Amino acid sequence: MAALPLSWSFTTTTTSAPFVTRPSRMLIDAKRSDRFQVSCEQNQTGSTRSDEISHGKFDRRNVLLGMGGLFSAANLVSASSTFATPLEAPDFTKCSKGTNLNTGQPLDVDCCPPVTTEIIDYKLPPVTKMRFRPAAHLATKEYVAKYEKAVELMKALPADDPRNFMQQANVHCAYCNLTYDQVGDSDLKIQVHNSWHFYPWHRWYLYFYERILGKLIDDPTFGLPFWNWDNPKGMVMPAMFVNTSSSLFNARRNQIHLPPAATDLAYFGTQSVDTTQIISNNLTVMYNEMVRNVQTLEDFYGAKYNTGTQPDPGPGTVERGSHTALHVWVGEATSTGEDMGNFYSAGREPLFFSHHTNVDRLWTIWRDLRGSKAKDFVDSDWLNASYLFYDENAQLVRVKVADTLDNIKMGYEFQKVDTPWLKSRPVARAKKSKIASTTAAPSVDSIFPVKLDKVVKVLVPRPKKSRSKKDKENEEELLVIEGIEVDTAIFVKFDVFVNDEDDDPNTLDKAEYAGCFSLVPHKNSILSKTKIRLGLSELLEDLDVEDDENILVSLVPKAGGDNVTIGGIKIIYSS
Ligand code: C2O
Repeated sequence: MAALPLSWSFTTTTTSAPFVTRPSRMLIDAKRSDRFQVSCEQNQTGSTRSDEISHGKFDRRNVLLGMGGLFSAANLVSASSTFATPLEAPDFTKCSKGTNLNTGQPLDVDCCPPVTTEIIDYKLPPVTKMRFRPAAHLATKEYVAKYEKAVELMKALPADDPRNFMQQANVHCAYCNLTYDQVGDSDLKIQVHNSWHFYPWHRWYLYFYERILGKLIDDPTFGLPFWNWDNPKGMVMPAMFVNTSSSLFNARRNQIHLPPAATDLAYFGTQSVDTTQIISNNLTVMYNEMVRNVQTLEDFYGAKYNTGTQPDPGPGTVERGSHTALHVWVGEATSTGEDMGNFYSAGREPLFFSHHTNVDRLWTIWRDLRGSKAKDFVDSDWLNASYLFYDENAQLVRVKVADTLDNIKMGYEFQKVDTPWLKSRPVARAKKSKIASTTAAPSVDSIFPVKLDKVVKVLVPRPKKSRSKKDKENEEELLVIEGIEVDTAIFVKFDVFVNDEDDDPNTLDKAEYAGCFSLVPHKNSILSKTKIRLGLSELLEDLDVEDDENILVSLVPKAGGDNVTIGGIKIIYSS
């Protein structure tokens, strides 16, 4: 892993280049039914739709339509089949293996599932008995014995049974390692990470995995244990997974992270602070991901991703932060990080399922915290998106995002435990800092695109200042870091600070820490262009600089900075 650069120098790059080619603002939004409307409005997230539809297919369509000048009915109808439609369940017969998309090199992993022709549209069965998901560190002996038995039986199923443990691991690999073509756009691959598919897809994945285990031990109340890493009591690898004679054991882990090492939710390849600081950082990370930085749906869920969208449009807070950190923290200390630290092999790690059960639990908690605010996207492109899984009876079923919104309707609930991060709102190191007016850092229009092979500091103008309470309630102020170019085969991480005077990049329990960008690598790779958005309203309030015209943003590479280029930074307002 790359070490943290020691110098905190300004960048002196003077190249100025637009990092995103903006297609025409005119946009046609046609559903499969061929109903359509022409819109050039801003959408609710404050960007135009064309911002969200990545470069690639959509640019070509806009060009084609633009050449026609007028949007005649004829070209609308002929073009509509390629317009934004929900991501569709993949065609298993077209699962590809063999070549790395980025390098053209042979790929030594084949995770394609067994092919079945009959697909059943899945209906949530009526809930007669609730499944109970306990915290792993609180699980009883009896529970652990039951869970071990179930995984043992799963590992003993015939190798070609889709419910076999390795087959289940391959489900994750196939959906994450760019093996499936998008249905309706075979130029593009399916990737369920780094977008609004992250929560619903993983919820379905755990749902069937749990039902298969329950069936194997004939227990309809069996629920997966969650690794309660958001609570100091659960901030260590759960004991049941480190017993070498258990079916839950895996040898491919970073050996220095076995208990009693504290789980580091800001991990980037090395651990440079002591346990007390790690735990304090962790609570701030959780507060930021679950409270401060998620005032809008996109910021929690991730960016829109439909048929026709390039993979990795933008991960939500938990996905890119604590979730990614623990993948890499658990996996072997090698450049590829098997099993947990690489998407293709993560499902081979029994601990993966407890890690994600906690992510799934955080989704439920976040929705419960929203009160009367919108909890979910209403876009049919999200609700109608579908995936394929084998269920507990080895039948291939088609499932939809719309059925994942309520875990109770899906028949399971979580053990109730404390959420101490709710009270971990960080305080400022320096209130009313003057650093943004005294700094010699360059301003946004002079340095992008810039490579993150060193710390980059940049002065970012705020289009609005001194916003009223009402303004702030209506619209979140967001720092958008866009055109982030990365090779997805490499683990990368950078942290973002605002008006940071003490320049200590490993102390995150302060209001100046805005958040991070990070990706779990995968074997098959592409060059991705992605973005993140970081909430500023509360941060600026806590720093007491709401009347300032500029903020000083520090981008601090923590891992793989040589492989990250930033296209630009701006501030937007979004509801
Ligand atoms: Cu699908 Cu945490 O990975």
